[in-house]
Amino acid sequence: MEKKTITLDLEFDLKNENYIIWNDQIVMSRSESDYFEKLFKKLREIKVSAVDTLEIGFGLGISASLIQSELSPNVHEIIEIERSIYQDLLNFSQEHPSVKPVFGDWRSLSFSGKKYDFIFHDSYDYSGAKGWEFDRSKDDYETFKSILKTDGYICHPHFGDGPVRDVNGFETIILERLVVSPILMWDKTICQDVAIVIRKPIW
Ligand SMILES: C[S@@+](CC[C@H](N)C(=O)[O-])C[C@H]1O[C@@H](n2cnc3c(N)ncnc32)[C@H](O)[C@@H]1O
Repeated sequence: MEKKTITLDLEFDLKNENYIIWNDQIVMSRSESDYFEKLFKKLREIKVSAVDTLEIGFGLGISASLIQSELSPNVHEIIEIERSIYQDLLNFSQEHPSVKPVFGDWRSLSFSGKKYDFIFHDSYDYSGAKGWEFDRSKDDYETFKSILKTDGYICHPHFGDGPVRDVNGFETIILERLVVSPILMWDKTICQDVAIVIRKPIW
C-alpha cells in the first residue's frame, strides 16, 4: 500500500531565529547551541563517519549547521514535517549544496533501500496538533536499524543526568556527561546537565 506522507501547517506562538514556540511549548530555542556545539565537536573528535547523513527535524537549523561544519557530509538529507520550517530548510539548502531537503513526517516516508552512516534524530511531539497522526505500530529503532549502514551510528539529544534508556538491537554508548549553558526546555524549565549519546546497531 502506498504510504500517505503527512505534513503539518502550524500556527506558532512565536517563530524567529531564536525561538520556535507552539501551543505554549518551546519546540526549539537557541539556548541549545552550547550543548550542540560540544556534541558535534565530540563526534568529530571520535571520527564518526557522516558521509551519508540523515537528520530528522530542522528546527532552527543549529544542528544542521554544525553537522555541515564539523562532520562535512557528502549527502545530508534533512526531513522536516512543518511547512514554514521546511521553507527555512529550503533557504538553508541554497547555501549548502550537500543538503537535500525532504518535506514530511519521517515515519510516513519511504526510504526505499537507502542506508546512512549517521542519523541525528531530534524531532518534536506535536501531540494535539491537527493532522498529527501516524502509525505507532512500528518501533522507531526498527526503522533506524533498517536504514543504518553496518557500522553506522544514531545520535539524539539527551537532557538531564538520569539514566539513558537501552534500545533493542542497539548498543548504547554514553560518550560524555557534561554541564552546559542553560537550556530552555519544552516546558520552560531550565536544564544544564546533558549527555552525548550514540547508538550502534548490534548485528
Ligand atoms: C527540536 S526541533 C529540531 C531542532 C534542530 N535540531 C536544531 O538544531 O534547531 C524539532 C523539529 O522536528 C520537526 N518534526 C517534528 N516531528 C517530525 C516528524 N515526525 N518528521 C519530521 N520532522 C519532524 C519539528 O517541526 C521541528 O522542526
